[in-house]
Amino acid sequence: MSSRKLIVIILAFIAVISELNAQKFAFRVDDTDGIPPHVYAERRQRLIDSLPAHAIAVILSADIRNRQNDVDYEYRQSSDMLYLTGFPFPSSALLLSKDPMVIDGKTTHEAFFVRERNTSREQWQGVQAGPTEAEQVYGLTPSVTYGRLSSILDTLLGPPNDNANQSMQDDGASAGGNASKRQLFISGWATRSVPMPLLGKNLYVDTQHKNDLADKYGALTVVTPIPALIAMREVKDTAELRLLRKAVDITVGGHLAAIKGARPSMHEYEIEALMEYAFKRAGAEDVGYPSIVGSNYNACILHYTANRRASSTGDLILADCGAEYHGYTADVTRTFPINGRFTPEQRIIYNLVLEAQDSGIAACRAGAEFKAPHKAAYAVIQRGLVNLGIASDSSDVRSYFMHGTSHYLGLDVHDPGTRGPLQPNTVITVEPGIYIAEGSACDKKWWNIGVRIEDDILITTGLPENLSAALPRTAEAIEALMKHR
Ligand code: GLY
Ligand code: MN
Repeated sequence: MSSRKLIVIILAFIAVISELNAQKFAFRVDDTDGIPPHVYAERRQRLIDSLPAHAIAVILSADIRNRQNDVDYEYRQSSDMLYLTGFPFPSSALLLSKDPMVIDGKTTHEAFFVRERNTSREQWQGVQAGPTEAEQVYGLTPSVTYGRLSSILDTLLGPPNDNANQSMQDDGASAGGNASKRQLFISGWATRSVPMPLLGKNLYVDTQHKNDLADKYGALTVVTPIPALIAMREVKDTAELRLLRKAVDITVGGHLAAIKGARPSMHEYEIEALMEYAFKRAGAEDVGYPSIVGSNYNACILHYTANRRASSTGDLILADCGAEYHGYTADVTRTFPINGRFTPEQRIIYNLVLEAQDSGIAACRAGAEFKAPHKAAYAVIQRGLVNLGIASDSSDVRSYFMHGTSHYLGLDVHDPGTRGPLQPNTVITVEPGIYIAEGSACDKKWWNIGVRIEDDILITTGLPENLSAALPRTAEAIEALMKHR
């Protein structure tokens, strides 16, 4: 064959291959309000720096969860992956290594694993970034095919099933590991347990995974979750605080719309709809947790989410709802009378919870113990319930205020954190409540009053900042808001 003919054949072959690989759809990021890639890169570097020698960290994407048949639940990326990469798609993994590793000839401390693009999948499910887009758009270099995660781990951790006779490389350079010295940090499991009802037991995915890793790699220490990552996520950086403030602002708008729009005899779901419509109109992708809108006796259930009851005049409405914006969620609760005016008993309980919340917020000082807001709020409620004769003694109080007062807030509504002394740039909720269910051992005039007041508090070096302060909190301010609607 002439060399000219050969060149033509090669060019034709390249054209066919390019055609096969051509993407029908362009990859686009429509949102313009995200966090720039260099911020994620700095976070990854901090995490790498925090790892002990010979340690590898793996961060896994969330699973796709099937709802039924052809329908999956709407996908949301795992919070640790969002925190470290901003990458929103499933079937991806981030691998960070304390020691340099060589992947496809490139020396690196990090590697990203992602599914190849697939036009027929994209036709149904939307365009998802592949390795090229992960590198170019998200700055995740090198990005390689997801299916290689396990074999690259094998190279890094040592030959599987051969732990007794490994040829070790103690310097940790490039690939080639030493499982007896390696620590594998895993951020968490997308699914922690799967029920197996016919066997009468659960499959605990983390235990199973750890056992299988031990079988495969021998003396490998598996650490999950990653303590340094928990500590990092507790204290918010500037980029996070901007998004968190936005989530809170959107949430305040939703609560205002719901309180102003609520009318006696509305169903709980109608109030939920007012709230979530305002969230979405303001750009929230989702709610950070299922909206809790409970009227009357339903207000006494802490995480009531059915939201099906029709309200009637005289009911209190407890609305605990938070918008999620670019992964960050607010968590705000207001309790209001559906007809715009608190009854005397409702007002007494409301004011007691408000006083407890004021004390809790005042205790939100840098250096204070994590439980300081709870202790402050609890003391107020304890004294108040005993004075009112609702609780016979202090041991009785827990049956009316049965939850903690604070949790961290961020990418998750119950965000991870160390629960050590409060630190500046940490956001926590302060959310005392009193719930007097029907049949409680007190005068029945108190029955079916459920009140929680919850705000999102930024710890600073000075006074705490209430991020949700724009939402009326006192009984009088709520009544005024409802009067002038
Ligand atoms: N917003 C619900 C909770 O904090 O548990
Ligand atoms: Mn909360």
